[in-house]
Amino acid sequence: MNQLFRRKQYSDQEAPSGLLRVLGVWDIVFFGIAAIIGAGSFSSLGEAVFRGGPGVIILYIICGFACGFTALCYAEFASRIPTAGSAYTYAYASFGELIAWVIGWALIMEYSFGNIYVAFSWSDYFTSFMERIGVHIPDYLTCSYTEAKKAFLGGSENKELINAWKTAPIIGNLKFIVDVPALVINGLITWLCYVGVKESKNFNNIFVLLKLFIILLVIAVGIAYINTDNWFPVSTETGVASFMPNGFAGVMSAVSGVFFAYIGFDALSVLSEETKNPQKNLPRGMIISLVLCTVIYIVLTLVLTGMVDYRKFDGVGDPLAFIFEKSNANVAWMEFVVSLAAIIAITTVLLVFQMGQPRIWYAMSRDGLMPKKFMEIHPKYKTPSFATIITGIVVGVPILFTDKSFILDFTSIGTIFAFVLVCGGVLMLPAKEKLKGRFHLPYINGKIIFPVIFIGGLVFFYFWQPAFFNHITDWNDPEKGEFRISIVIFIIINLVLCVLAFLKNLSLIPLIGLSSCLYLLTGMSHNNWFWFLLWFAIGMIIYFSYGYNNSKLNNELNGDLN
Ligand code: ALA
Repeated sequence: MNQLFRRKQYSDQEAPSGLLRVLGVWDIVFFGIAAIIGAGSFSSLGEAVFRGGPGVIILYIICGFACGFTALCYAEFASRIPTAGSAYTYAYASFGELIAWVIGWALIMEYSFGNIYVAFSWSDYFTSFMERIGVHIPDYLTCSYTEAKKAFLGGSENKELINAWKTAPIIGNLKFIVDVPALVINGLITWLCYVGVKESKNFNNIFVLLKLFIILLVIAVGIAYINTDNWFPVSTETGVASFMPNGFAGVMSAVSGVFFAYIGFDALSVLSEETKNPQKNLPRGMIISLVLCTVIYIVLTLVLTGMVDYRKFDGVGDPLAFIFEKSNANVAWMEFVVSLAAIIAITTVLLVFQMGQPRIWYAMSRDGLMPKKFMEIHPKYKTPSFATIITGIVVGVPILFTDKSFILDFTSIGTIFAFVLVCGGVLMLPAKEKLKGRFHLPYINGKIIFPVIFIGGLVFFYFWQPAFFNHITDWNDPEKGEFRISIVIFIIINLVLCVLAFLKNLSLIPLIGLSSCLYLLTGMSHNNWFWFLLWFAIGMIIYFSYGYNNSKLNNELNGDLN
């Protein structure tokens, strides 16, 4: 049993490969915005608004909090394990091998599957841009089969998807519907990663400025078209106007899309060794970038939902261009500018993720948990060539048969799960000596504060959203019952945490990070959990049939015993 939790020891003193401390607070902020703002703001915002209505803003605030606390936990790990930078490595040191494998496996959901969503979004903007310049790509070549089928069967009002289903040629018994732009961009990005495109800070900064400029432009131009009635849409069934037309459950059902917009800040923690005075600058930089993104998302959501009725965002993959369409604000030049800028901005996100995945596999392969082939370095290009090609395949093949909302849920549940383990991992770390120049997570005793915050939060919520609690034992309501079960589990886990915090004086920051990420998991549907657990089970089979025996740590330990 102990074998499963064998831990890798990382020396605190391991040399950080001669990196120079050059980054200040604003460099971290820039890096943060580069990693965070992408398909989430340009794309998944549309579906989130459709599900939650204008009230989805509340979810942006909750996610901003959860990510802020998690970011600090990442920073703590990064300062302790200077040689590496992913949740996988951190887990190997704190929880041991099995959980490390689980995280590494879950990170595939963040990096590779996340990129499937980003590729779909890229395709949406690319298609709308081509349309603006007068090139029409047939609808059945710009969306996925399952998405078109779902839209048709569900009676969606999305014209492109319905048209794709109706006009697609039939091959054999199957309608030929393939998202060609998504496939092509994945191929191109894989090739760029294979030949070793260099990340350059200057280039990166230009893209960040472009992203910010375009979002600010959308806000500045869009404000003039806001109709405040849209913020309190009137339900066609009840006639009641509400900021949260689908209730708080509707807001929570948008969690995947909203959370996705924040993914990427975890990459900031790896900068710990390159930051001047990381103790101060790293947390500040992280928090500033998360606050900025949260503010941007809130304002953007206000503009979107003010300009166009939230119900019109069903299946819209390019919401920032959509709001300027003829049937909405009708500002043709904005449609054009936004689509073009989005294509460029989203491409950079694709590149970051597609480069990240092979490097995680490289680390896992070096530890013996994956075949050696994943460590193979191309003799000429010096890139992890095999792992890069596999990443391209793992991203490319599902483009053929999944759809955006499925993949968004899948990515988000896997990433939140990894964050839960990172926050939990920090709680388990022993106290460390304060070293000058290193980041050190401030310790605030959570003994009393955490139970007070949790119980206080429950009471507040009870008065604010009593309806949410009325159904807590209403297992028969198939729609609402889904959330209730996770809410009950969430409350039980938190009560246990309250007791542990009291008995063991647990640190407040990781506790809040853990609790808020667990809360985000309550927004996941049964369907998400089913696929997540299936993925998890496949991971277990692979670990026990390969990694368990081939682990380098296992061989070292056995060597020591013999
Ligand atoms: N947060 C990143 C994006 O929105 C993943 O594209």
